[in-house]
Formats: sequence, C-alpha cells, structure tokens
Amino acid sequence: MDINIGIDAKNREQLATALSKVQADTYTLYLKTHNFHWNVTGPMFQTLHLMFEQQYNELWLAVDLVAERIRALGFPAPGSYKQFAALSSIKEDDGVPKAEEMIRRLVEGHETVARTARNAFKLANEVNDQPTCDLLTQRMQIHEKTAWMLRSLLE
Ligand SMILES: [Fe+2]
Repeated sequence: MDINIGIDAKNREQLATALSKVQADTYTLYLKTHNFHWNVTGPMFQTLHLMFEQQYNELWLAVDLVAERIRALGFPAPGSYKQFAALSSIKEDDGVPKAEEMIRRLVEGHETVARTARNAFKLANEVNDQPTCDLLTQRMQIHEKTAWMLRSLLE
C-alpha cells in the first residue's frame, strides 16, 4: 500500500537517508561505549564501568527508535556492520586507550551524533516532519547532556 502521510516519497527518502546516518553513528557509539565498559582500567574503574553501562543501554534503546522511524517513512533501516561503517561519521578504535582517552573519544562521539542529528533536523523541519523533529530533538538533548557529563570528568 502507498504511504499517504503528507510527506512526498522524495522527501521521505531523503529523511530516511539522513536518519540512517544518525542510526549508524548511534550504533557505532553504542559499540564503542560497550567496548570501553569492558576494557576500562585504572583508579576510576568503578565510576566509568558503571557510567558507560548506563550510556550503552540508552544508546541501544535509541537505535531501535531511529530505525523504526525510518521504517514508518517507508524505507529499509540499515542493519549490518558494513552499512554502519559506510554511513557512520564516528571512527572505530584500535587497541585499548587509557581511561582519560576513552572519555575524550566518547565526548567526541556524542558531539558527532549531535551534529549528525542537527543536520537531519534541518531537513525534517523543512519538510514538515514533526515526529522526526521530535525524535531528533530528544536525541540531541541526550547526546549534548552526556557530552557535558563526560567532559566534566576531565576538568
Ligand atoms: Fe557489563
């Protein structure tokens, strides 16, 4: 059945592409955060191990919301490491960084998703897609808050 929600197919396709980048960034940051939860060491171990766990759980729930918005717009959601690697602006890590470097890389990761979401928001706003605007507003709020909390550990 054709989709008739008041956003034409061309605009829905562009929205799906923009949201796929948000999903890929979020998934890549999810994996990075879980990796750091497993591998962090040092005097801040307990704090960071638990903080990273809260963060990866939140990211894991978020990828589902973004993917399902893409589906509601009528397009397939990306679901492979190959697609995520091609779409994501977040670099993967080699080796195990020191705890402070992990924090720095997570700040950068959250700032990157915030920028990707902000780009997608511009399009969603132009084509009158309020549910996507709402979702992206919530995502930006969480990424910017998390970046602030992580940044504060470095001061
Ligand atoms: Fe765990």
